[in-house]
Parts: sequence; structure tokens; C-alpha cells
Amino acid sequence: TTRIFSGVKPTGHLTLGNYLGAIRQWVESDQHRAEALFCVVDLHALTVDHDPARVRRLSRQTATLFLAAGLDPELCTLFVQSHVDEHTRLSYLLECTATDGEMRRMIQYKEKSVRERSTGGSVRLSLLTYPALMAADILAYGADEVPVGDDQAQHVELTRDLAVRFNQRYGHTFTVPRAVLPEVASRVMDLQDPTSKMGKSHAETSGIVYLLDEPEVVRKKIMRAVTDSGSDVVYDREAHPGVANLLELLASCTGDKPAVLAEQYSSYGALKRDTAEAVVELLRPVQARHAELCADPGTVDAVLRTGAERARALARPTVDAAYRAIGLLPAA
Ligand code: TYM
Repeated sequence: TTRIFSGVKPTGHLTLGNYLGAIRQWVESDQHRAEALFCVVDLHALTVDHDPARVRRLSRQTATLFLAAGLDPELCTLFVQSHVDEHTRLSYLLECTATDGEMRRMIQYKEKSVRERSTGGSVRLSLLTYPALMAADILAYGADEVPVGDDQAQHVELTRDLAVRFNQRYGHTFTVPRAVLPEVASRVMDLQDPTSKMGKSHAETSGIVYLLDEPEVVRKKIMRAVTDSGSDVVYDREAHPGVANLLELLASCTGDKPAVLAEQYSSYGALKRDTAEAVVELLRPVQARHAELCADPGTVDAVLRTGAERARALARPTVDAAYRAIGLLPAA
């Protein structure tokens, strides 16, 4: 059977980008057709300046939203990365497989390290080695597919390279995975700055729709989305990124094609109104289930406990095999 792994790092409240770019595929398709694992990758949240209490709170919230979005613990495995030691065990072996040049070439590292330094901050070493841990997440489970948004494709490419290299040097150990991107909305853009992606850790929040935003807030943010001075509704990501983003959001909600929707609108106002309503309706059931689950935190704890046990049992043999293959003496 096909194995699938993906994750979200608890560095902020989940956004519409996380949902449309990744989580919705997990819910609607992946958990039904494969052996799927979905992870709150909390160790990754420690690669940038963090507040311990907030990371803990966001980890629980992210897990709760996984369930609220419709991931079913009967169908898939839901767990928290730090509950399964195999991730960090394997990460080190992959740091011994990768080069520093490969890590420094990662777009996310370049962007985040420049941002940190420009504000007078320092860069944690783990921000550089992040892709080795992400590769470990994926390779420990022998995942064939990694359903992610566009911004993670480069990390999955590096994961493939590391798997192939390790296999060539030390004998076949890892399945070589591939990224799977959604057809529409693989890169949801910020509503106020449609040339940059909607990101959960951005400080300026007026262009970000959070999964737990109230309907009125969602409407306001979408109605105020930056478009441009024109008025023709055309689907052109280069020339009209704001309008293209709205068309992709609406298309992703309705299942239509953005270019087809463009022909049905003659004003930005109508496009915004319909997009806002479609997003409000998309989020409504998720928010309702989230409220129910918050009243019952024991359920989430139990799901994560069982999930970690299952994940550990799957990862341990692969990681043990990697330890042997790379030349480490097994404990007697
Ligand atoms: P993270 O937490 O930034 O995002 C979680 C998922 O949401 C997708 N995504 C988006 N998709 C479309 N438009 C956007 N604006 C948008 N913003 C985020 C991301 O592509 C991702 O699929 N490094 C990963 C977490 C991770 C992981 C893994 C993923 C760690 N280990 C192993 C897959 C497999 C990250 O930071 O995602």
C-alpha cells in the first residue's frame, strides 16, 4: 500500500493556505486511499525565536484542528513529532549524509536567515539543519507521497536526494518519496501582499485568513483584499496576482477552474463577495467541530497517545536499519 506522510509546524494559527495547500487533500483523499500519517512537527517550531508556552498551546490547537478538519484517527495516524524519538535519531544520520552547501541553498533558509539578521537577531543552527529533520520525518516512515504546498517542494526534493545518496552509499534503506501538490491553491497568497505567500508566522495579519477567524472577520479580510486599479477579471498570476489569488481561492472552494471562473465575473466586488461567502461556508463545519473538541480535550490526548504508539512502531525498524547500514555497532 501507498504510505503518506505530512506535517504542520506549530508556529502560528493555521491559515487558509495550510488548509487548501495541504490539509484538505489529506482529509478528502489521502486518508482514504493510503496508509497516512499526519504530524504536528513541534521540533521544527524551535528553529526560530519561540515562546515555550505558545508552542505547547499551538501544538494542541493544531492537533485539534487536524481532527476538526476531518482527519479520522480510525483511518490515519495523528501524532506529535517530539513524542517519537525516531525523528531526531534519524535526523543526525541525514546530517551526516547532506552537505552544508545543500542546506544553505534552501530558499526558506535564505529568506528566514536574512530576515532574522536584518532585524538584529541571530540564526539558530537548527534553522540550517531543518531540512535534515524534515527528511527524517518522511524517510522514517518509508513515505511514497508527501502532500504539501508549493513552498515545501524544494525540501521534499532534497529529501529525495538524501534518500538516493544514502541508499547508494550504504545499501537500500529508504523509499524515495515525491511531493504531491494540489492542482489549485498550491500557493495561497497574502491578501494584502499578493506577491508573497500567506504565512502563519507573519506579523501583519490583515492579509491572512485563519481557520478560526469569525465569519465577519473572514468577509472583511477578503473584501479588503488588494487587487489592482483595473477592473477586468482575468486569471493572470504575473500581471494580476491579487485577482488571480481570489480566483484560485474561489476555484479551490467550488472545484471549478480559475480561468473558467474569471469569465463569469465582470467586477472585483462580485468576485470578492462570492469568494468570501465560499470561504465562510468552507470553514463553518471545521469551526463547529473545533468548538466541540475544545470542550473535550481528553479526546485529543487519547488520539495523540495512540498515534505516537503506532508511529513509533512504524518508524523504529527503518531507523534501526539505517543505524546498522551507516556503520554503527548495534547495542548488544
Ligand atoms: P508549514 O507548517 O509551513 O505548512 C504546513 C503545510 O501548509 C502548506 N502551506 C501552504 N500551501 C499553500 N499556500 C500557502 N500559503 C501555504 N502555507 C503553507 C505547506 O506547504 C505545508 O504543506 N516544513 C513544513 C512542515 C514539515 C513537513 C515535514 C511537511 C516538517 N516535516 C514532513 C511534510 C513532510 C512546514 O514548515 O510546513
